[in-house]
Amino acid sequence: MVQHKITLLPGDGIGPEVTAAVVAILECAGVEIEWEKYFVGSEAIARNGDPLPQEVLDSILRNKVALKGPVTTPVGTGFASINVRLRKALDLYANLRPVYSMPNIKTRYEDIDLIVVRENTESLYAGLEHEVVPGVVESLKIITEKASTRIAKFAFEYARAHGRKRVTAVHKANIMKLSDGLFLKCFRDVSRDYPNIEADDRIVDNLCMQLVMDPNQFDILLLENLYGDIVSDLTAGLVGGLGVVAGANIGLNGAVFEAVHGSAPDIAGQNKANPLALLQSAVMMLRHIGELDAAKRIHSAILKVLDSGPEHRTRDIAGTGTTADFTTAICDVLRRGTRGTD
Ligand code: NAI
Repeated sequence: MVQHKITLLPGDGIGPEVTAAVVAILECAGVEIEWEKYFVGSEAIARNGDPLPQEVLDSILRNKVALKGPVTTPVGTGFASINVRLRKALDLYANLRPVYSMPNIKTRYEDIDLIVVRENTESLYAGLEHEVVPGVVESLKIITEKASTRIAKFAFEYARAHGRKRVTAVHKANIMKLSDGLFLKCFRDVSRDYPNIEADDRIVDNLCMQLVMDPNQFDILLLENLYGDIVSDLTAGLVGGLGVVAGANIGLNGAVFEAVHGSAPDIAGQNKANPLALLQSAVMMLRHIGELDAAKRIHSAILKVLDSGPEHRTRDIAGTGTTADFTTAICDVLRRGTRGTD
């Protein structure tokens, strides 16, 4: 009997390429998964008129776990972001993005080890907008005590469970005194329950400057939705770019694992996309479903392949290889049965 049923959303752009690579690697690792595959976004509109069919939500609610490729969101017009809808519909309130240096990926700084925790359901990113009168539009920033408190708890619980020492809340409460002020107040209230974990805060513009100047000073960053979106791309740039950073959207109804990057239309269909970010997300997923040994073996295989020749890495991380070359190299290591530490 297959051990795990998991919803698979390949997405579009480079999504189908990187998800196919990751599915192949999980198979090489011997993880028994029955995938329930669905289309979302423009592909789903073409098939049945709805970019996020109810059957997709039902599948994730049933399986509690999904692996998702990126989905293109039309700019300035068209359907609302599938990502935002999915996170809201399933109340996947915590977006977790571990950002760390990896071997042979040349960057400005070494030994970066940051955790970005992003509130996933509200703030300006919810896209609540309307036209007041022609030429005047309004975008609503909703911040609630409930959502701010639960994401702060998530960050501190994560810190406690993973031996992290400090959580830094990021805000603009000097200007948005009510909305960001409430986010910060909830953070400070929650922090009192965790006396062994240091709690401090930064104004978001200052944080960006400090991240670029001295990223190693930070441990866990806690941000509302829009700041989290922007800052996690910045932190990805510190460790090699969007091709390497994993993510997870976590809530009480389930978890959707996806890379930080988007559908990268500029390189789609060219065998150039780096599957590493989605593979790292899949490693997080394997840990989440209790496949610890497979997670460990794939993690070791990644380190080994990154440590080998440039022909096994994609061009975004200074390699000369393709999506397929990286995938084959990882599978070769897994088949040889390399074991290692996590
Ligand atoms: P993007 O992340 O797709 O691409 C930005 C740059 O990074 C491009 O030059 C691209 O080639 C490169 N890149 C990204 N992932 C890569 C990978 N795995 N390997 C190698 N290079 C990679 O961001 P962009 O262009 O702003 O967004 C494109 C579309 O993706 C938009 O429609 C956006 O809404 C959507 N998007 C979807 C997300 C999701 O589904 N979770 C997240 C972010 C954006």
